[in-house]
Amino acid sequence: MTGNDLNIAPTFILGDAVPDPEPSPELQRRLAIRRSAPAQALATPGPDRDQLTDILRLGARSPDHGKMTPWRFVVLGPQSRADIAEKLAAYATASDMPAKAVAVLAKLTAAPVSILVVSTAREGAKPVWEQELSAGAVCMNLEHAASAHGFATSWITDWYSYDAEAAALFGVRTGEKVAGFIHIGTSPDPLLERERPDLTALTEWRD
Ligand SMILES: Cc1cc2nc3c(=O)[nH]c(=O)nc-3n(C[C@H](O)[C@H](O)[C@H](O)COP(=O)(O)O)c2cc1C
Repeated sequence: MTGNDLNIAPTFILGDAVPDPEPSPELQRRLAIRRSAPAQALATPGPDRDQLTDILRLGARSPDHGKMTPWRFVVLGPQSRADIAEKLAAYATASDMPAKAVAVLAKLTAAPVSILVVSTAREGAKPVWEQELSAGAVCMNLEHAASAHGFATSWITDWYSYDAEAAALFGVRTGEKVAGFIHIGTSPDPLLERERPDLTALTEWRD
């Protein structure tokens, strides 16, 4: 194991015994305070290259039935997103609701950095559904990792994730799907708690 620095999570190599998890009030608190930010408001500072590398590494430490690694990352800085948004705006004007389709592009371009998580699920040893869940777990872990580095996040899909021609601009290939754009930055405003589900109605307890 390496990396005991307070700012760097430890690294393990194949076969290392990972430590038993100790109770972590800090992690509990962190999970309790995480809240999505409005993507269009995300501003600098964002993670630097080292922080981003660590966020990707932690995000990739997600459950994966069959070790198929059914996802990949595209890290998008502001310039590439601005360039793509310009092209998307042209597609948007040909859509049913051009004004809305253009307006949501503000969510794509605002953050200092965005990680596109591409689901590469394919027919194979494990069900496609499970592979897609794994890509979702990666998205969620990226959000937690970014939060642990002190940043706010927003998980966005929007219309261009579901339009093959539009998604191709980000490098999404035939047969792949967008699991999400994880936009990372700093929220200028406090994030207000949203309504949360009533767990009594959603949870069945059995002996
Ligand atoms: C798979 C997925 C896709 C989402 N896509 C969008 C989106 O396209 N536009 C948007 O404004 N928010 C999107 N969201 C964010 C949610 O609408 C919402 O902001 C978020 O779940 C807030 O909950 P939280 O504060 O607990 O994170 C998406 C969330 C998920 C999980």
